[in-house]
Amino acid sequence: MCGIVGILGRGEVAARLVAGLRRLEYRGYDSAGICLVGSDGFVRRRAEGKLANLEARLAAEPAHGASGIAHTRWATHGRPSEVNAHPHIVGDVAVVHNGIIENFRPLREALEAEGRVFTSETDTEVIAHLVARELERGHPPVAAVQAVLPQLHGAFALALLFRNEPDLLIGARLGAPLTVGFGDGEAYLGSDALALADLTQEVSYLEDGDWVILRRGAVEIRDRENRPVTRPRIRSGLSGALVEKGNYRHFMLKEIHEQPLVVAQTLQSYLKPLDGQVALPIPDARLENVGRVTIVACGTSFYAGMVARYWLERFARVAVDIDVASEFRYREPVLEPGGLALFISQSGETADTLAALRHARAEGQTIAAVVNVPTSSMAREADILLPTHAGPEIGVASTKAFTCQLAVLAALAANLARARGRLSREEEREIVTHLAEAPAAMNAALALDPAIAALAPLVAPARDVLYLGRGPDYPMALEGALKLKEISYIHAEGYAAGEMKHGPIALIDEAVPVIVLAPSGPLFEKTVSNMQEVRARGGKVILISDREGLAAAGDGCLATLEMPRTHPLIAPLVYAVPVQLLAYHVAVAKGTDVDQPRNLAKSVTVE
Ligand code: F6R
Repeated sequence: MCGIVGILGRGEVAARLVAGLRRLEYRGYDSAGICLVGSDGFVRRRAEGKLANLEARLAAEPAHGASGIAHTRWATHGRPSEVNAHPHIVGDVAVVHNGIIENFRPLREALEAEGRVFTSETDTEVIAHLVARELERGHPPVAAVQAVLPQLHGAFALALLFRNEPDLLIGARLGAPLTVGFGDGEAYLGSDALALADLTQEVSYLEDGDWVILRRGAVEIRDRENRPVTRPRIRSGLSGALVEKGNYRHFMLKEIHEQPLVVAQTLQSYLKPLDGQVALPIPDARLENVGRVTIVACGTSFYAGMVARYWLERFARVAVDIDVASEFRYREPVLEPGGLALFISQSGETADTLAALRHARAEGQTIAAVVNVPTSSMAREADILLPTHAGPEIGVASTKAFTCQLAVLAALAANLARARGRLSREEEREIVTHLAEAPAAMNAALALDPAIAALAPLVAPARDVLYLGRGPDYPMALEGALKLKEISYIHAEGYAAGEMKHGPIALIDEAVPVIVLAPSGPLFEKTVSNMQEVRARGGKVILISDREGLAAAGDGCLATLEMPRTHPLIAPLVYAVPVQLLAYHVAVAKGTDVDQPRNLAKSVTVE
């Protein structure tokens, strides 16, 4: 949530700050702002709405300065508006903030009681007031920030700029990511290394509680006890080109099409196809006594976890519990010693999932994390890191990260099954063979893009849409509905096909398209029976199945989509493609903002 960039530069920095924000826009895009410090003190420009509005403002009223901070916002406290947009300036300090200051109310009340006047509804403004008060008391900026940080509860990444010190930038992090970049006589701050990719490849990731004092040519990092610390300086290896759309109209479309490649890349780290073995970076001995797996995640990553539950139970015969992260901690889950807690996250920074991870650690669980951002908090805090190799995912709706998560989770299930003595050599070889087939099968599904686009006019006018599936296709139905909701704003629900008759079937009429995911396999007949119950009540069915499935059940449907025949193990990876593409084409037909849907942000770093 919210992206921040700071530059202590050698020339004009406004354009470079905006370019950094452009790469962070996925974190929030309801307003943006920039503040520079030059010979005349602070120059601030802010604008409600997308970054383009700030760019227009800057074109009309250029801002000059060699040091600056910038912010792209996803509103938490205070509606999206220019006055709530960051940076917030009070006296001689300007602040940008990602996160939430949980004790901002008592802080604000105390500051107002002293006669201080607030101009915004944000929690961030208290930080600016607290630091300004210290400066007014005669403390230099570093001492002022040092005095204020312990007063802030909650989660934050901050960048602070000072009117009278154009050679100074201060950053701090607690529970929200912040990266320091090193340049030739320059220094940078960014919410992630990608924001800094065109500025520098040399970065350090701050640890929780760290704060950093940047001066030209000198960067000093201190920990929460104010002790100087060194954090590894690494090459990010990221290039700005990774976040270009190429020839695609939207990032989401590009990322959907990248899936065969990135799933293959991911599988390469987890399979030894020639030996017919799965090969996770965990010795089997570490897994053989795992008797329970607790899966926790949010949104699309949660649905990947739901698919994984089927695989873990079937192959490894291990008990699996699964919950959304925002509920997990609050229901006092019973976590037995020796359990494996598995966290799934594209960003590795989702606040609810991270808090759940820390809770599970405190309860003595071994922590495994399936994460796409290898430098993220979850990646660093896990005992067992299982990275997905999807590359940066920019479209707010998750696509390629999801299928890469599925690939890793399938390999994990097989690995756990082997470690627990539940998988013969032959069965393991078979799983490896089928997983290795997934990228080609996904490619074949992508070739159906024009046929899927042709289905969009059947769905776009609807007010409500239902998705049905059974077994591992049930979470895929949930995922299909989520994709459609978030980018086309059509109300959609996913149901376990057999559950329809217990209530939701009352929703059926000719205005509600029902999308049925039914690959041939052991659950096909039962799914089709549920589909016929819908059709008997006038429901308009779009059936997504393979040739055999359509031959058996395609007659009388509103439309059908013929998928390649796949083994049931990899069907969720392959059927992800049509549900993603259908949501995409419906959103395009409706003219919504596919990559930056309303009200959303990619990285949800607030609880
Ligand atoms: C949906 C989507 C979200 C995320 C969720 C978790 O398309 O992207 O539902 O899956 O916010 O995010 P991560 O995986 O970063 O923890």
